[in-house]
Amino acid sequence: MAAAMTAKTWTPDSWRGKPIVQVPDYPDRAGLADVESKLATFPPLVFAGEARQLKKTLAEVAQGHGFLLQGGDCAESFLEHRADNIRDFFRVFLQMAVVLTYAGGSPVVKVGRIAGQFAKPRSSPMEKKDGVELPSYRGDIINGAEFTPQARIPDPNRQIEAYRQSAATLNLIRAFATGGYADLERVHQWNMGFVSGSPRGQHYQELADRIAETMGFMRACGITSDNTPQLRTTSFYTSHEALLLGFEQAMTRLDSTSGDYYATSGHMIWIGDRTRQPDHAHVEFCRGIKNPIGLKCGPSLEPDGLIKLLDILNPKDEPGRMTLICRFGHDKVEKHLPQLIRAVKKAGRSVVWSCDPMHGNTITAGNTGYKTRPFERIMAETEAFFAVHRAEGTHAGGIHVEMTGQNVTECTGGAVAISEMDLSDRYHTHCDPRLNADQALELAFLVADRLKQERLAHTAAPVALAGE
Ligand code: PEP
Ligand code: CO
Repeated sequence: MAAAMTAKTWTPDSWRGKPIVQVPDYPDRAGLADVESKLATFPPLVFAGEARQLKKTLAEVAQGHGFLLQGGDCAESFLEHRADNIRDFFRVFLQMAVVLTYAGGSPVVKVGRIAGQFAKPRSSPMEKKDGVELPSYRGDIINGAEFTPQARIPDPNRQIEAYRQSAATLNLIRAFATGGYADLERVHQWNMGFVSGSPRGQHYQELADRIAETMGFMRACGITSDNTPQLRTTSFYTSHEALLLGFEQAMTRLDSTSGDYYATSGHMIWIGDRTRQPDHAHVEFCRGIKNPIGLKCGPSLEPDGLIKLLDILNPKDEPGRMTLICRFGHDKVEKHLPQLIRAVKKAGRSVVWSCDPMHGNTITAGNTGYKTRPFERIMAETEAFFAVHRAEGTHAGGIHVEMTGQNVTECTGGAVAISEMDLSDRYHTHCDPRLNADQALELAFLVADRLKQERLAHTAAPVALAGE
């Protein structure tokens, strides 16, 4: 009854009447209102039809066909908005997708944490350094990372800059995805830069050789990237955490084709682990827009709480609508994931299960004070995620990572072992530690291997039964 009542009253601004956490306090209220009304007149960044297409593809993944690869910066930055950064990210992302498609034998849905991933939830509203206390940095769309009182004041004009950067980034990515850069004929050329010399780069090289050989065979049969667009172009979608709701509301548009509201700030948006309270503003906003929605699931999420959220966010159980992004920590997956899977199965709900092996594995490196994530824990959480799904008979449907195409030293470990002492060499993240390109590729090979096992287990099952 109560649910039916709230369901009727959704509007793009109905979240404003709900409790909310993790929001900045803008001193310049008039400036904020002015920026929000300006944004509301700007062209959408994405088109509702694209969000519907993504939902359709994710519905396939929910049914066990395909795999979601979602990744990018923890927080995009205004200072590092350069073409080479975007290209390097896109290149390693394509490499990962090729590894998953070819070695894992699975179609891959590609979703970047990019072109809008600017707002960050923080564990503490204040940051202390050398006895000085200032408001925390909340992402470039809100305030500045520099540790000065001025930089930390939330500035509404940053939202306009974030819109501009998102539009430019998306424009370049669309060009890469459809203009020839993603052509499978170029599979070798994606293996450039510092990765090409690493063991993982060589592993990739071998795989690229096999793909090139297959392409040669297909060319001889008359199938080329000139006459087959599937080989020349790729679908790439954008996503970010829907944290700054004033911005999200301003970018929400009524789609004339369907008569539904869509967030046009990105194709998919997600609700963070800290803002998923069922009666709060972030859930209220997301329930009314029709995009695919991600929901971060951390150790504090109980099975009943999850079902309640699915009831609110996806009352009609539309396939492809919900992606559950699990981020428990390497040693907590076995405890928390099975009960959530069982509750979802029992309730008969359709979801994509995705693994975020980053956010439950953040530690402070002993001597240096750097925030890091040991690569072996990231691998361990990913393996545990696959093992639990295998035991429960469900599809491990995706991976969600923080990564960059750059040769950074932010997560320890990996094939080119980064030690805690190396962290200071190239620690560039504005927020959480990311996988560098080499570590990202190494993770993709692990996932491809597990996907292959999952597929073989499925095809082997009827044979085993027949033999009994
Ligand atoms: C994030 O994805 O950057 C994030 C803050 O995640 P979570 O909400 O899972 O902590
Ligand atoms: Co993060």
